[in-house]
Amino acid sequence: MCGIAGYVGGKNAPVVLFDMLKRLEYRGYDSAGIAYVGEDGINIPKGKGKVDEVRASLNPESLMGQIGVGHTRWATHGVPSTVNAHPHTDCTGVFAVAHNGIIENFLELKDELEERGHSFKSETDTEVIAHLIEEYYDGDFLEAFAKALGKLKGSYAITALSTHHRDMILVARNESPLLIGLGEGENFIASDAPAFLGETKEAVILDDLEYGVVTAGNTAFYSLKSGRKLRKKHETLSWSFREAERGGYHHFMLKEVHEEPDAAVNALKGEKELRAVCDKISSCRRVYFVACGTAYHAGLYGKYLMERLGLAAEASIASEFRYSTAGSLNSECAVIAISQSGETADTIAAVKAAKARGAYTACIVNVVGSSLTRLCDDSAYTYSGPEIAVASTKAYIGQLVSVALLSLESAKKKMKLDEKDFLDYFDELKNIRERIQDILDSNEIRALAESEANTRTFFYLGRRENYPTALEGALKLKEISYVHAEGYAAGELKHGPLALMDETVTVLAIMPDDELKRKVESNISEIKARGAKVITVGVNKDIRIPKTYPIFAPILAIVPLHLFAYYISVLKGLDPDKPRNLAKSVTVE
Ligand code: G6P
Repeated sequence: MCGIAGYVGGKNAPVVLFDMLKRLEYRGYDSAGIAYVGEDGINIPKGKGKVDEVRASLNPESLMGQIGVGHTRWATHGVPSTVNAHPHTDCTGVFAVAHNGIIENFLELKDELEERGHSFKSETDTEVIAHLIEEYYDGDFLEAFAKALGKLKGSYAITALSTHHRDMILVARNESPLLIGLGEGENFIASDAPAFLGETKEAVILDDLEYGVVTAGNTAFYSLKSGRKLRKKHETLSWSFREAERGGYHHFMLKEVHEEPDAAVNALKGEKELRAVCDKISSCRRVYFVACGTAYHAGLYGKYLMERLGLAAEASIASEFRYSTAGSLNSECAVIAISQSGETADTIAAVKAAKARGAYTACIVNVVGSSLTRLCDDSAYTYSGPEIAVASTKAYIGQLVSVALLSLESAKKKMKLDEKDFLDYFDELKNIRERIQDILDSNEIRALAESEANTRTFFYLGRRENYPTALEGALKLKEISYVHAEGYAAGELKHGPLALMDETVTVLAIMPDDELKRKVESNISEIKARGAKVITVGVNKDIRIPKTYPIFAPILAIVPLHLFAYYISVLKGLDPDKPRNLAKSVTVE
């Protein structure tokens, strides 16, 4: 949530910063701004709106500076407005700060600072950081910064500038991601690597409670706990700049749906990592998949799959789990966190709670080096490549395949699946790529979306492992089209939603190719009898998916539903990449 950027080097910082913010926009887009050091001190052009809108109103090409920080916001404290847009300054305008996260004790700090004569301009929690630096500054910027950090409670990634120290940007991290991209005679700072991948793939990833100083030619990092200087590893990032570009597609979402065949096969690269996780969970009494949003639906699929294979598993929403189930865990339990970003605050908190109870923890994550991978005992990657659209698509496919592989490996290890069946399933997983490609090639969905573009209410129905598909199909539609859509377990229909069925409603029913088929057919008859329209999804159904083992049908059935949501959004004239009020990486509770 919120993207922060920094640049120091020979290029024109305002231009570089707006380019970087554009690439971080998926993290928040209600306002944007930069602070750069010009001849006359720190200038802070900023405004309300998406990065392009703010950029167009400010014309960064006309600005000049070689050092600066920037921010694209997803509001937490204070409405989206120019005054609340970052960066923020102290009373004197000597220090400027951009921040991602939440300072939980900001009201307390603000009161103290006001008593000491500081006056605040914005409603944000961030502004206290600039005033704290001002309060502690005695000629040493880094020391004042460290003292200010010592007062903060909560999560943060921070970049800070000062007119007194025109060659350096100070950085800090606690529970919000921050990377330093290492260039030749220039350095970049960002919440996420795509911001600087076009310039460098060498990076330092800050860990929690670390801070440092970045100049054009140097970096130095310190531990906030001990104050000691750290020797940080230089990492080479594997993602390419091209992967983080839109290519010839109108939207990132459409591009990413078309990358789903690759995402399916790339997830198989995590086989060895998943086997290591499987070795550890085989001795555990119970396995919990824990995640948020789309990733939670992948966890729910994991639960059904494990159960289908004779293993016990649960799936929990991380924000619930951390305050409930987590308290009853012990060392015989395993918690597997699923996350595209590896930065979701509730998922991280759930893992921390599980660790505190002695449980084994692992994660299935897309972003290499992200917080969850640093926290968990073991990590397996989905290798889906950068996902930029806020609504997760190809990463979900990667998660489903990873979870399927983990479940199959676990079942084999626990002798619930013999070698031959395992290999049959594994071969089919390798073929999933082509089956997804067939769906994308069939080109049927746009016309269907056109016929449904004015429908006001959708229900998505599924049973067992396709119940998560129903939830995910509905989530995708509501988040990018702002249409009411509900995912339901088909058998539950008669316990409530049937009352809503009439000719204004469209139901998408995911039809299994197994013994539950008849059950869903009965549900469909009940719906049709009440006048609602039904669109079936399955082998030889209205929306056709290729034949596969029923346990893998969710990996195929979601693909046309992604496209359906995409086209409805576009037909409504919306931007599917940046749905209102949402952000891709939710780093606050
Ligand atoms: C946000 C995103 C969703 C995503 C969820 C979990 O809500 O908009 O697309 O599924 O966070 O994110 P994660 O990075 O943990 O998978």
